Amino acid sequence: MLYYYFIFIDRESNMEERLTFLGIETSCDETAASVVREKTDGTGEILSNIVSSQIDEHKEFGGIVPEIAARAHVEKIEFIIKKAIKDSKLTFQNLDGIAATAGPGLVVCLTVGLNAGKAIAGSLKKPFIAVNHLEGHALSPKINNKIKFPYLLLLISGGHSQFLEVNGVNSYKRLGTTIDDALGEAFDKTAKLLGIEFPGGPKIEEWAKKGDKNYFKLPKPIIKKGGCNLSFAGLKTAILKISKKLKNQNEKYHLAASFQKTINDILYEKTKIAMEKFSKNKTKNQKYFIIAGGVASNLSIRENLIKLSNEKSFTPIFPPIDLCSDNAAMIAWAGIERYKINLIDNLEFPSKARWPLDSSAPFLKGPGLKL
Ligand code: KG4
Ligand code: ZN
Repeated sequence: MLYYYFIFIDRESNMEERLTFLGIETSCDETAASVVREKTDGTGEILSNIVSSQIDEHKEFGGIVPEIAARAHVEKIEFIIKKAIKDSKLTFQNLDGIAATAGPGLVVCLTVGLNAGKAIAGSLKKPFIAVNHLEGHALSPKINNKIKFPYLLLLISGGHSQFLEVNGVNSYKRLGTTIDDALGEAFDKTAKLLGIEFPGGPKIEEWAKKGDKNYFKLPKPIIKKGGCNLSFAGLKTAILKISKKLKNQNEKYHLAASFQKTINDILYEKTKIAMEKFSKNKTKNQKYFIIAGGVASNLSIRENLIKLSNEKSFTPIFPPIDLCSDNAAMIAWAGIERYKINLIDNLEFPSKARWPLDSSAPFLKGPGLKL
């Protein structure tokens, strides 16, 4: 109880000040910490943004190994947080609060950052905010852009693929999601079949430039059903079959190009449906379409979705690459936004493997699913 009392006093005394938060992110294979300060125009200033990736640790396994990831987080977290504070040229005492990712993700990994955040908040008697990683992505475009709610978000990363209507802080409607693999996962699995090291998304993009995108005809799962839900598993099966018969490097380039083209066709159709859903009952003049997540760094996907946005009168916004992929600036920012509407958590907040942003949306995975 005493803890809440402290927080309340702190909040009141800081009402007119620009808030400064430390964010911590360890939900997957990035150990990250960042200090972000609110600007007077409502956007944010990133004072430091430290991301330590574990790609080398996981390369030989072709994917993320939870125990290895957790150990690497434990080894790095203290150094990364201290560096984030040092680079921001502030001290822990200057912070108005601490935000840490509490889910969704690998619990063994989440716990490392979450516990670090709680320990700092507890010892400094500063407010603590447990952040949903997806909310971090969803609010990240507001760090650099003066945009108003609601907006349409496509999140495409190694762990998630969703269309979300972002109506406000803590207020989301899921319009569509993947029913099997995430898009980044589809890129990584295709890359693996082509002999490319994990994570293979960027290399697929590179190879696609050298190939003929119409060389292989690949399936587009649930393209004509399931609204703006997505599916990539059937595509992977088709690629597995073709990859066994490839004769030379040129054919590998053709397969990378055909895969990327198929993804673009799927995203084009499904985003069109999401835009129509989003536009229903909205009288707003300006409609924003935000694309976040590591896969959003793919230039052909960017061009494709910018073209569609123009056709459908949406303003497309891509957060800069370092804010698209996993980072802690977005967690600090989500902390600031939540704190401003008094969404403050206690130090008992658990890490959560599954934590949908829209709790009313059905769980769309597994055999026997009807769309
Ligand atoms: O958001 P992110 O950094 O981490 C999470 O998964 O949360 O996304 C990583 C994913 C990986 O699957 C990676 O292969 C993919 O994003 N990716 C790309 C590209 N750059 C990264 N996929 C396609 N084209 C790219 N240029
Ligand atoms: Zn992410």
